[in-house]
Amino acid sequence: MSTILITGANKGIGLKITAQYANEGHQVIACCRQPDSATELHKLKESHQIQIMELAVGEAESVANLAKALKGKPIDILINNAGTSGPSFENQTAMQMDFEGWADAFNINAMAPVRVMHALTDNVKASPAGKVATITSQMGALSLDMAVAYAYCSSKAALNKYMKMAALEYVKEGIALCVIHPGWVQTDMGGPSADITAEQSAAGIIEVIDKLDTANAGGFFKWDGDKHEW
Ligand SMILES: NC(=O)c1ccc[n+]([C@@H]2O[C@H](COP(=O)([O-])OP(=O)(O)OC[C@H]3O[C@@H](n4cnc5c(N)ncnc54)[C@H](OP(=O)(O)O)[C@@H]3O)[C@@H](O)[C@H]2O)c1
Repeated sequence: MSTILITGANKGIGLKITAQYANEGHQVIACCRQPDSATELHKLKESHQIQIMELAVGEAESVANLAKALKGKPIDILINNAGTSGPSFENQTAMQMDFEGWADAFNINAMAPVRVMHALTDNVKASPAGKVATITSQMGALSLDMAVAYAYCSSKAALNKYMKMAALEYVKEGIALCVIHPGWVQTDMGGPSADITAEQSAAGIIEVIDKLDTANAGGFFKWDGDKHEW
C-alpha cells in the first residue's frame, strides 16, 4: 500500500486518479480548496482510505498549513494536478492580455506545483522510492505550433522547464520527478467534446507513475506512456 497525495482532487482528472488509487487499496490524501463541498470525495471516503484535506495551492499559508499537518508522514507519490485555464481565451492572445489573469495562471499552474513540492519534499524523501508527478499540458510544449491560450500555455511551459531542471537535483535525493500530459480530457476544463474520459486519462497517468523511477526521471510523458516532445 502506498500513500498518495493529490491536489485538485475534488473533480475532473484529480477525482478519477483519487478513486482509482483508492480502489486499488492505497491511502489517498485528497486535497482541495473547499472540502465541505467536495461531495464526490466524501462519497468515496465512506468506503475507501481517503483523507480529505484543505489546500489552496496558490496560497503560501495554506500550503504551509498542510505541510505542518503532515509533518513526519511519508508520502510515496505526490501528484500536482490542480490547474486553471486562465483568463477568457480572447483575453490571452498575442495582441491582448489580462495581466492579472496571467499572473494567477502562473501562480496556480507554474508556481503552485513547486510550492507544494518544496513544502512536502521531506515527506517524499521519507518514502523508499518517492515520486513527484506533475500534470502539465501538451499546450506547454515549445514544439507545438498552436497559437492559443497564451497565459495557459506559457504557464505550463514554465512549469515544464522548472520540473525538467529540478528532476536533475531531486534524483540525487532518490526522488523521481516527471511531467505528464493527461490527453485532451472530458472535464470542466477540457469540455464535453474532448478525446478521452477522465477515467481513461487517470488510468494512463497511474501507469506512467508506476513506471516512473530515478532512471527515467525528468521525462515529459503522455497519458498513454509515450514520450512527449519538449
Ligand atoms: N482537461 C484537459 O483536456 C486537460 C488537458 C491538458 C492538461 N490538463 C491539466 O490537467 C489538470 C486537471 O485538469 P482537469 O481537466 O481535471 O480540470 P478541472 O476539472 O477544471 O479541475 C481542475 C482542478 O484544479 C483545481 N483548481 C483550479 N484552480 C485552483 C486554485 N486556484 N487553487 C486550488 N485548486 C484549483 C480545481 O478546484 P476547484 O474545483 O476548487 O476549482 C479542480 O480540482 C490541470 O493541471 C490541467 O491544466 C487538462
